[in-house]
Amino acid sequence: MPTVYVNGRITDAADAVIPVFDHGFLYGEGVYETLRTYDGKPFLYDAHMARLRRSAGMIALDVPGTDDEMLAKVRETMAAEKGLEEAYIRILVTRGIGELTYSLAATPTPSLVIIVKPFPEPPASHFTEGISLALVSIRRNHPSALNPRIKSNNLLNNALAMQEAMRQGAEEALMLNQQNEVAECSQSNFFIVKDGIVATPPIAAGLLPGITREFVFEVGRDAGVTVEERTLQTSDLWNADEAFITGTTREITPVSKVDGRPFGDGKPGPVTRTLLEVFRTKARQA
Ligand code: PDD
Repeated sequence: MPTVYVNGRITDAADAVIPVFDHGFLYGEGVYETLRTYDGKPFLYDAHMARLRRSAGMIALDVPGTDDEMLAKVRETMAAEKGLEEAYIRILVTRGIGELTYSLAATPTPSLVIIVKPFPEPPASHFTEGISLALVSIRRNHPSALNPRIKSNNLLNNALAMQEAMRQGAEEALMLNQQNEVAECSQSNFFIVKDGIVATPPIAAGLLPGITREFVFEVGRDAGVTVEERTLQTSDLWNADEAFITGTTREITPVSKVDGRPFGDGKPGPVTRTLLEVFRTKARQA
């Protein structure tokens, strides 16, 4: 059962509660980070905290305390989860409790929640066979409406996209932006491989700057593989030799097909496999 820290109190998931007047619940006003551990150590903690503070800053919200204080709370929550090996960690900061108004003055104290549970390893077949994506009809939020750079607790855009993909039997939803360019997936970033070069859409395409995405640029340098940002049209997608997604909970997961159309022979390609291997070694050294 997950263990949860809520504003200073650590309990089992069943006893972890937030008042309904918390604006995180009422309006989806809040930000979050999902982390995982390798060998018990939260992976790329500093980068996740930097993004949490950036997201919070974009909605005029303060993340309480220092990064070290937050880490102490994370470790305390991890210690309370019995038999924990590798952990899934979700840190949420919301506006806090206040009257039914959008006024910031109504919510002077943010709420802090930390969820810890055993890390849910994806099925091994996802890495050996690849997963299938659906190119869904739901578009990624336009940055001028709700910027995907804000890792917001308000996940309706992501949830609707993923639910459309699940109806089609796919494991992840790939979204386009308003210009019909490839943006990202519902819970991960998207990459293609063409002629040995790895490409992923630029942040300007309207997507979350993934911590894993950023790490893959370093992995590429170590592996001697060029990884670049490039605007991707759907034609680039259909012509790609390989494709993969990246995310905290998925590492580098090969994509075998999009909308039933396979890449290459429909098996994880050599560039993806090399990057995954280097990624895993490097992650445990970080
Ligand atoms: N999701 N894009 C979106 C929309 C995401 O929600 C995520 C992460 C990513 C990948 O980011 P990162 O590499 O920093 O995990 C990209 C997390 C895992 C989640 O929603 O729990």
